[in-house]
Amino acid sequence: MKGYTVWFTGLSGSGKSALGNRLAQEIRKRGQPVEIIDGDVIRRSLSKGLGFSKEDRDENIRRVGHVCSYLTATERVAIAACISPYASIRNRNRDLIGEFVEVYCKCSVQECAKRDPKGLYLKAFAGEIKGFTGVDDPYEAPENPEVLVETDKETIEESLSKIIVKLEEMSYLPRVDTLSPEEEAKVIERLENLGYL
Ligand code: ADX
Repeated sequence: MKGYTVWFTGLSGSGKSALGNRLAQEIRKRGQPVEIIDGDVIRRSLSKGLGFSKEDRDENIRRVGHVCSYLTATERVAIAACISPYASIRNRNRDLIGEFVEVYCKCSVQECAKRDPKGLYLKAFAGEIKGFTGVDDPYEAPENPEVLVETDKETIEESLSKIIVKLEEMSYLPRVDTLSPEEEAKVIERLENLGYL
């Protein structure tokens, strides 16, 4: 198989990790080796000590890109889930990795703040955290992501199926035949009756 990277980008609380984890389950079911590189985990390990200035975020994303490129080159699937707010470093990773599928988790700041699983938006709005993405720090939305999911409008399963359809279209993921032989026979009969076969 060919390795590839699925790169989730979006605000904190936009659903990157949740979707990345669900996607990893589906990819594993189809027999492909997959690793998740999650911003929250990386910042406690590989990027320990980096902060949230533009320079530090770019350095963090450069490191994550390097890990993804290694996994991709060794025929595995890398799933990155990092805010990655700056377009230029995301695009540099796209060029470095080659087999790159960008998924933009679009979600309003209001909705992310409502979810606020780590209580960080509350602190950011109170001014206790400075330079919080989407509050007082920039987020550059991708202009042409391979997949756009609107996590404040869709269910997680709806968003997941958009990603899977795209991965199948791009031939990264094998299509699974979900029809039983009886269902398949019925579909063929219907298509024949309609004159398609
Ligand atoms: S990135 O900007 O460098 O891509 P990354 O995804 O690794 O960010 O880490 C984001 C996580 O760090 C958030 O989900 C949040 O838990 C935490 N965090 C702490 N401070 C900030 C901040 N100023 N802006 C955004 N996230 C922050």
